[in-house]
Amino acid sequence: MTPQKLIKLAKEAMTHAYAPYSGFTVGAALLCADGSVYQGCNIENAAYGPTNCAERTAIFKAVYDGHRQFSAIAVCGGKDGRITGAFPPCGVCRQVMREFCDDDFRVLLVGEGDCWEEITLSELLPHSFSAHKHMK
Ligand code: THU
Repeated sequence: MTPQKLIKLAKEAMTHAYAPYSGFTVGAALLCADGSVYQGCNIENAAYGPTNCAERTAIFKAVYDGHRQFSAIAVCGGKDGRITGAFPPCGVCRQVMREFCDDDFRVLLVGEGDCWEEITLSELLPHSFSAHKHMK
């Protein structure tokens, strides 16, 4: 799976977003260790708090199907259905990634055009609390 293919799947996932409140649609494509890919979108709620981000939608779909090892995720989003610049995942999604992913899990932050930035989970969430490190 090339970064370009994963990014294309994240862009496609963005079209599934349900974001009537913020107007900010997000798509994610999660690469599992076995090569399978799960897509996710943000799903908002009138009560705001129950909103689920695209990254967590993808991770939860994959975990439900029995996957617990992941190597990368591509994320894109923006206003009016267009990518308006790369942005890093929210703190809740970082902690959910921490539950299942190693320090070198790659997060591809997709910007406008064909560009993207790559950052690891340990860079996004240093000094993190995780079950495998702290609850043995
Ligand atoms: N959102 C995501 O889906 N992923 C992120 O990492 C950041 C934020 C969504 C949540 C909400 O539906 C909208 O973007 C605006 O915050």
